[in-house]
Amino acid sequence: MVRKTDFLVIGSGIAGLYYALKVADHGKVTVLTKAAVNETTTKYAQGGIAAVVRSPDSVEKHVADTMKCGNGLGDEEIVRMVVSEGPACINDLIDIGTKFDKDPTGKYDLGREGGHSEYRVLHYKDSTGEEIIRALVKAVQSHPNIEILEKQFVVEIITQHHLGKKITRNTPDIECYGAYVLNPATRQINTYLSKVVIMATGGAGMAYQTTTNPGIATGDGIAMVYRAKGVIENMEFVQFHPTSLYNPMENPSFLITEALRGFGAVLKNSGEEEFMNKYDDRGSLAPRDVVARAIDNEMKLSGEDHVCLDCRHIDSTALKRSFPNIYRKCRSLGIDITKDMIPVVPAAHYICGGIKTDEHGCSTIKRLYAAGETAYTGMHGANRMASNSLLEAVVFAKRAAEHSGSKVQNYKYCESVPLWDTEGTVLNEEMVLVTQSLKEVQGIMSNYVGIVRSNLRLKRALKRLNLIYRETEDLYKKSILSPKLCELRNIINVAYLIIKMAMDRKESQGLHYSLDYPAKREKT
Ligand code: FAD
Ligand code: SIN
Repeated sequence: MVRKTDFLVIGSGIAGLYYALKVADHGKVTVLTKAAVNETTTKYAQGGIAAVVRSPDSVEKHVADTMKCGNGLGDEEIVRMVVSEGPACINDLIDIGTKFDKDPTGKYDLGREGGHSEYRVLHYKDSTGEEIIRALVKAVQSHPNIEILEKQFVVEIITQHHLGKKITRNTPDIECYGAYVLNPATRQINTYLSKVVIMATGGAGMAYQTTTNPGIATGDGIAMVYRAKGVIENMEFVQFHPTSLYNPMENPSFLITEALRGFGAVLKNSGEEEFMNKYDDRGSLAPRDVVARAIDNEMKLSGEDHVCLDCRHIDSTALKRSFPNIYRKCRSLGIDITKDMIPVVPAAHYICGGIKTDEHGCSTIKRLYAAGETAYTGMHGANRMASNSLLEAVVFAKRAAEHSGSKVQNYKYCESVPLWDTEGTVLNEEMVLVTQSLKEVQGIMSNYVGIVRSNLRLKRALKRLNLIYRETEDLYKKSILSPKLCELRNIINVAYLIIKMAMDRKESQGLHYSLDYPAKREKT
C-alpha cells in the first residue's frame, strides 16, 4: 500500500503532537505512532516544564542555570532562544486546555528542581506530562487536517538510497521522501510518501537495564537517521535520574520526581547521614550528574543497592496534596512517605544527544526535521537541567512547523520510490533470539557504559556489542519483520553511538565521567 501526506509526523509525544497542531493549517498531517497515541514518555513526565514566569526570575537567570548545568557545552544562542520563546508556547498549551497548578492567590505555583536558581517549574501535581498529553491529544483529534494512525511502526526513512543511489556520510543533499512503515497487524510494510517528515520518536532509555523510560523509548529515530547517514551528536551524554524508586521487580522503574527534593526532601545514606553536602554546596538539589555520581559512590562505599529520600519532616497534608501519584505508588508497596524513607537508586532517564538540528529543527537530511528528545539542538550540553526537556520540545516543534510550513509548497512527492523489498525474508524469528540479545545489550550498557566509565570498560563494551550487532543484522536480513526485532536493531545502533562517542571524548565532562580522565567540575 502507498499513502501520501504533506507532513509525516513520526511520534505522538509532546514534540510530535505540538508540531502537528502548529503545521496543520499548511496541509494534510499524518501522525504515526508505534503504540497507542498517549503511550509516550511525555505521559510519564512528573516534575513539570521550566519557564520564566515572573520576577525575580529572568531569561538571563534561566540561561545561566542551563549553561552551568550543561557544563558550558550548550549552545548559548540556542539556550537563549528556547528560554525566550518558551513562555509563549506554554501559553499556547494553556490555551488548548492544559492545566497547571495555581496557589491560593491564583498565581501559578512554581516548583524548583536541581540546578535551578529560581522557582520556575510549572506543573500539574506530579502528573504534568499526563495532563499535557491529554490536552494535546484532544486538540489534535479534533483538527480536521490531522489523522493519527496508531500501532504503525516506522522501520526506515526513505532517501535516494532506496532509489538505488550510493549514499555515504559525505554525500551532500541527502533527501527524505517519506518512510517505510510496518503494520504489525498485517505484517505488511507500507510506503508513506511525504513532502516533509519530522522525527519525534523520543529517547532511548531502553538501551539500559534500569530506566525510568517506558518501553517505547528504544531510540528508533536516532538509529534510522544514523542509518540514513544523517549526523548524530553528543550521544555520550546519557542522563541518569538520581531517584528512581528502588523496586527490583519493576521495569521500567517508577520515578520519584526531583520536585520532591525541591519541596524539601533530602537524600540520606543507610546511616541516615545527609551525604550530598560532601559532594556539592547545592546539596540534594545539585545538578543530576553530580547527584547520580554521588549516590553511585555512596552505594559503592556502603555496599548497599540503594540510598534513601527523606520527606518525613515535610507537612504531610502538603506532601500528599502535591505528590498524590508518588504517595499512592509508594503506599501500594507498603511505604508511607510521610513516615518512611523512600529507597531510591539512579536509572537511565534522558539522552542529551541525538539527531543534529539547526535552530529551525532541520536535520542534516533535507526535508527531514527532528524535535523533542530524539534531537540534539545544542540546548542541553553535557547535562540537561530538569524540566528543560518539555520546554525544548515545544519551542523546536513550533519552529519546525513554521519553517516546514513555509517550505512545503516547494516539495513534490517522489513517485519513483520502490515498494519495500521482502526478497530473502523467510524466517519468523524466534522471540528468544531477540529477547536474549536485548538483555545482553542492556547488561553491557549498564555495566560498562553507565554513570562511571573507563577506557577499558568502553573497549570491552564495543567488542561485546559487535558480536550481537552481526548476529542481529543477519537475523534482520532473513526475517519477516516484527517491531521487537526492529527495536533491538535500533537499540544496538544507539548503544554503538553512545560507546563510540564516549570513546572519542577524552575527558570527564558533565554526564560523561571516566576514571581515566580527571573531572572538570565536582565541587562548585
Ligand atoms: P515521547 O513523548 O517519548 O514520544 C515518542 C513517540 O514516538 C511515541 O508516540 C512513540 O510511540 C513514537 N515512536 C517511537 N519510535 C517509533 C517508531 N519506530 N515508529 C512509530 N512511532 C514511534 N522532562 C521535563 O521537561 N519535565 C519533566 O517533568 C520530565 N519528567 C520525566 C519523567 C519521566 C519518568 C521520564 C522518563 C522523562 C521525563 N522527562 C521530563 C523527559 C521528557 O518527558 C521527555 O524528554 C519528553 O517527554 C520526550 O517527548 P518526545 O515528544 O520527544 O517523545
Ligand atoms: C523529574 O520530575 O524529576 C523529572 C524531570 C525531568 O526529567 O526533567
